[in-house]
Amino acid sequence: MTMSAAIESPSGRKRVRPKRKPIPAEGENGLFTESWFPVCLSKEVPKGKVIGRPFLDGRIAIYRPDDGIPRVFSAYCPHVGADLGAGKVVDGRIQCPFHHWEFNTDGWCEKTGIGDPPPKTACLYKFHSVEKFGFVWAFNGAEPWWEIPDYPVPEDEIAFLVDYDVPSMPIDPWVTCANTPDWQHLKVVHRMDFDHEKLFDEIEWTDHSMEYDIAAKLEHGEGPPLNARIGIFGTSFFRLHGEFAGQWISALTGFHLQAPGRTQVYYSLGTRKSDGTPEDDARVAMAHTLLFQLAKSIVTDDRPILHTLKYAPGVMTPTDRALNKYLAMVRDFPRSHESADFIK
Ligand code: FES
Ligand SMILES: [Fe+2]
Repeated sequence: MTMSAAIESPSGRKRVRPKRKPIPAEGENGLFTESWFPVCLSKEVPKGKVIGRPFLDGRIAIYRPDDGIPRVFSAYCPHVGADLGAGKVVDGRIQCPFHHWEFNTDGWCEKTGIGDPPPKTACLYKFHSVEKFGFVWAFNGAEPWWEIPDYPVPEDEIAFLVDYDVPSMPIDPWVTCANTPDWQHLKVVHRMDFDHEKLFDEIEWTDHSMEYDIAAKLEHGEGPPLNARIGIFGTSFFRLHGEFAGQWISALTGFHLQAPGRTQVYYSLGTRKSDGTPEDDARVAMAHTLLFQLAKSIVTDDRPILHTLKYAPGVMTPTDRALNKYLAMVRDFPRSHESADFIK
């Protein structure tokens, strides 16, 4: 008599290897999803400063000349490859630390350190970039085909608390994005009670995003209610805005794709600016504290899972419909790597 058959199928079910279908990883075949990625905090690049950062498996330089608008370029100098992120800003141009070639706001070399005429081909790759919600963002792709949306409250009326969440995560950004349509995880990992039965039909999908309204009770009803619109944009950021603790709030987590399988999370937490009175200053400080605690508790819940998983959808249930649809979007997301020849 063998026991194994009974152990294998106590109720006639067969043990079969799940057919898991991985999503193409960032960097696979040298390609990355065409999304807006945060690349640094605004406060890290004051006027007249240049900094270097990893991005898309290469390196970029971000600088802010006197007009106050940050620019994002490939970092390696076309001369012999010094890192322009270690350079400085001179007369509104980035000056390479090695031989002092200078690059203008379009990334063209305008002068060399010793007066040789700049070679015609001496240029940097210039990323499409914007500054929003306390981050500098760069788009991977030849032309941005979608925009980072605004909040219903104008940006200049919002007080933001902006910083990094450390350490970085050993996953691609879309893996953490996939948490938002993953309702099983919202309920059990983050202890949110909400009615998901009809929610799928209420999701607003575009070719690059998904958003829905959620009325959740935190800590299985022990915590405060959260009435918010939450969503994912592209493969690179989560956004929430709505009512929490009696006031309008916003929360955005942006995922900097430093290299395949390496994501740095940034957060930007907002509430309406203070009217300048001490009471209203206290309201803003309290809102930031509550939002920070909420964001921190969510990331703390997720970390042990996100640091160890091998993401590939396999056996799913009907509650996973929204997740499946988002993963299908990621699977088919346009991918490219225009800057590859410059940033590596
Ligand atoms: S390496 Fe930049 S000027 Fe020579
Ligand atoms: Fe999560």
